[in-house]
Amino acid sequence: MDFDPGVLERLKKLEDKYEAMGQDIKSYLDGLLYADSTTYWHYLRVDTLLQLQVPKTDFPDEMVFIMYHQITELYFKLVLHEMEQICNNGREVSKTGEDKGWKDQLDADFFTERLIRINRYFESLTSSFAIMVDGMEKDQFQRFRMSLLPASGFQSVQYRKIEIGATDFKNLVAVDMRKDVTDSSTIEEMYENIYWKRGAIELASGKKTLTLEQFEKNYSEELLELSHSRSGNNLWQKYIGLSESDQQKEKLIMALRQFDVNVNVNWPLVHYKSAVRYLHTEGEDIAATGGTNWQKYLPPKFTKRIFYPALWSDIEKEQWGRGWVDSVLK
Ligand code: HEM
Repeated sequence: MDFDPGVLERLKKLEDKYEAMGQDIKSYLDGLLYADSTTYWHYLRVDTLLQLQVPKTDFPDEMVFIMYHQITELYFKLVLHEMEQICNNGREVSKTGEDKGWKDQLDADFFTERLIRINRYFESLTSSFAIMVDGMEKDQFQRFRMSLLPASGFQSVQYRKIEIGATDFKNLVAVDMRKDVTDSSTIEEMYENIYWKRGAIELASGKKTLTLEQFEKNYSEELLELSHSRSGNNLWQKYIGLSESDQQKEKLIMALRQFDVNVNVNWPLVHYKSAVRYLHTEGEDIAATGGTNWQKYLPPKFTKRIFYPALWSDIEKEQWGRGWVDSVLK
């Protein structure tokens, strides 16, 4: 029988591939004979995906709230996926364990391109946040929110993992304690004073909310482990590990600065807007937050999280979160 030379060529390549793994190509060809072809719904697990939205109340807008949080978590997963590649020097490992391009040194262009992707994900989240701010009826929100307590976006562990992967741990310490961090401070000591332990605090008593306590109980061990493994291998460490000339590349510096602003100013500001819209009414703060200190905690000008202080001037740091950022970046 005459075979198309293109088919034969591919068969040869497949034979080589399986031979290299000590496998017989014929068994795999049998597998192909019996395997179903891929469908859209199976490949994307559409049925499973659409079963993951389970409201706790009958208020229709709770669906908007659930789905937008899930969309955000998927974007966060993409961000972590890109960060992982940067920290692995662009290494890609196939499912069979085959190394598809190990590099000893991170390539500055690869680093920049992946950062640009991350920025795109965050910009998409920032610009779509109107779905939260304007997309739910305040009255419905204030009622269904009570059925969800003490759950809060504050408990998003992926958000915390992004921060840990982005910078040296000292930059995540609460702003008033940051000056006390020394080279001998341990991650455990710094973790005690991580900025987010100043949030989700009961306004009346000054005590930790159940939201914060639950989060610490569930995730502290995992976050500490991640912090140790990222201490010499986060985006900042990757940057200062580049050659002097690579570190000077304008596009890379801009991508890092933009990332800093996206995570630490722009997203927090649109997010804060939603808290103001739904939880604040002239003269009273809505108990839906569980009566927390969110007004003092959420605005970026108070927490002053800055991943890359060395890339900003003193004035820019002083003015952090006060509306200058877009003009500086342009
Ligand atoms: C109507 C919409 C929203 C409101 C009213 C709201 C409200 C709040 C409040 C009040 C806090 C501070 C913690 C506390 O005091 O309990 C908080 C923290 C947080 N929320 Fe939301 N949120 C909303 C939507 C979202 C969405 C869609 C996400 C996406 C995952 C999210 C993620 C977070 C994160 C990551 C924090 C911690 C921020 C930090 O530590 O600086 N929130 N939110």
